[in-house]
Amino acid sequence: MTSHSNEPMPATAPDAPPPAGHAPDVLVTGAGGFLGRHLVRGLAERGHRVRVLARPGSDRSPFADTADDVVTGSLEDRESLRRAAAGVTHVYNCAGVSADWGPWEEFRRANVDGPRNVVEAAHHAGSVARVLHVSTTDVYGYPKEPCDESRPPRDIGLPYNRSKVLGERAVQQASEATGVPVTIVRPVSVYGPASKDFVIEIGGLLRQNQMIYIRKGEVPAGLLYVDNAVDAMIAAAGSERTVGRAYNLRDPDRTTWREYIEALAEGMGTGTPKLSLPTPLATALAVCSEGLYKALRVTSRPVLTRHAVHLFDRDQSYGIHRAQEDFGFKSEVDFAEGMRRTLAWLDSDEGHRHVAR
Ligand SMILES: NC(=O)c1ccc[n+]([C@@H]2O[C@H](COP(=O)([O-])OP(=O)(O)OC[C@H]3O[C@@H](n4cnc5c(N)ncnc54)[C@H](OP(=O)(O)O)[C@@H]3O)[C@@H](O)[C@H]2O)c1
Repeated sequence: MTSHSNEPMPATAPDAPPPAGHAPDVLVTGAGGFLGRHLVRGLAERGHRVRVLARPGSDRSPFADTADDVVTGSLEDRESLRRAAAGVTHVYNCAGVSADWGPWEEFRRANVDGPRNVVEAAHHAGSVARVLHVSTTDVYGYPKEPCDESRPPRDIGLPYNRSKVLGERAVQQASEATGVPVTIVRPVSVYGPASKDFVIEIGGLLRQNQMIYIRKGEVPAGLLYVDNAVDAMIAAAGSERTVGRAYNLRDPDRTTWREYIEALAEGMGTGTPKLSLPTPLATALAVCSEGLYKALRVTSRPVLTRHAVHLFDRDQSYGIHRAQEDFGFKSEVDFAEGMRRTLAWLDSDEGHRHVAR
């Protein structure tokens, strides 16, 4: 990546919002998703006028009260991206397929071609001082020991991991080709109100008594509360030091999956998992169920996937010193408060719609 753009860039940083009444100054893709909706709110609270890109037919309620402008389109529709990026100074790419299973073509279109199109649209706009692309620590390929950013990404052949590795590469190449300054963040496991993976899904499994542990849940989960993620993304996008760099993001404490799941279960008033699988058995089950679904051409998600086993089996305490040093990354919300807010959401009308009592 390069730190210099071919286009004249405004000096405006996202922590210095324009005066009220101005046209949208930031674009958020994926605003209807978990990370995106919280980011739109965080930017609006800081005085930004936020434009979002929303797919036709997608739920717009998550940003109905916070976004100033909606462009209908998608990551694949380059014309819509150009309309969305016109005139903004910062682009946050939160859109993507975040899943442990699914057709490769969907991962490729959203997670590889999509970010490349975002950088190209930013270049076309000529006003964009930074594109912040949301990647993931899954790019490391689930190493046995957690690492920092000095370890290069590793494609281990699982679709999410592969698409995010290729997505980072696509962003870097597009940045080099166009001169648009890009910053990449790699959150670990983000939780909070409306988290699809770690609140709605795990909450639903707890309700149905179907949640199990792997390795007794004793592995550090690498959690990041969503408001801490938002703070970090805005700070990273506004720092000159972050141009052309990638940053791991997680909360500093080493909360284990068991601690997380027990806190969720206690707050929801459900039981806790009774069954724990050792890693070899969980891996065998994942390999068999993935193989069976493939052979039978079943498109729904298998009972267990290798991706899920890796997440629950590997210590996810990835190093965050670089983010602390370069843009003062600090998790303002601790685990107790993050869980309190998460449980309050689960108890709200919206929470009940997602995880029935
Ligand atoms: N959640 C985590 O723990 C976590 C951790 C690390 C990294 N990340 C990364 O953070 C990003 C956001 O994750 P999330 O948890 O917020 O996911 P999410 O809740 O599934 O939201 C994804 C968003 O992307 C949009 N989207 C998907 N494909 C698109 C396309 N082709 N064109 C336009 N929009 C598209 C979706 O639109 P619709 O509303 O129309 O469906 C949705 O708004 C992803 O890149 C993910 O890899 C997430």
